Amino acid sequence: MYMNRALRKEYLQAIGIESWVRRGAPVMAAIPPSPAPAESQREGGIDWPELESRVAHCERCPLHATRTRPVFGVGSRQAQWLIVGEAPGAEEDARGEPFVGRAGQLLNSMLRAVGLKREEVYIANVLKCRPPGNRDPAPLEAAECLPYLEQQIALLNPKIMLAVGRIAAQNLLRTESPLGRLRKQVHRFGRSQVPLIATYHPAYLLRTPADKRKAWEDLKFAREVCARV
Ligand code: URA
Repeated sequence: MYMNRALRKEYLQAIGIESWVRRGAPVMAAIPPSPAPAESQREGGIDWPELESRVAHCERCPLHATRTRPVFGVGSRQAQWLIVGEAPGAEEDARGEPFVGRAGQLLNSMLRAVGLKREEVYIANVLKCRPPGNRDPAPLEAAECLPYLEQQIALLNPKIMLAVGRIAAQNLLRTESPLGRLRKQVHRFGRSQVPLIATYHPAYLLRTPADKRKAWEDLKFAREVCARV
């Protein structure tokens, strides 16, 4: 297939085999002024430290018995982008940070491809605790855990959410539609109606590299939506 230089560069970046990062005009719209601290730091009487402490001591579902530690989320609390995955895997459970394994490396490359550093987005999961053997989240686990993510969203007030993988997208959008039907659309999440874009999970992309191209399209779409908000 013919690819011009610019397209090739973008594509190589997206699949993480080149570390070139575009300089010059930032891809992101200027960060809007932060809301007043009282508004941004507390939601429904809960601030970040309180929320973190609740998650650290959470026993709302049986996963607390098998986890090493909960994985709260990581990144900038002023982030415009919120990335939401499924649940911690073994490495995340051991380290207490989301997306730190091979899938996390690819996620970082995908973010870099749209001009974002890992540290400037916020990354979390539908579940804070690892399901044994990395099985899919059970409905009760997701139902008990989602309020924590909703509180994180209320505190963050992101401009865009990126649901990575079918499980994340289906849980956030409360649907059983396949990922193929959820992609390429602007969904809205929660009370604040944050725009949400669904794309492939990086672990899936590691197994199915042919779909990286489509994930790249999704990321560019999310970047456009974010610039319009
Ligand atoms: N997969 C996910 O969905 N989340 C993680 O944090 C790691 C792997």
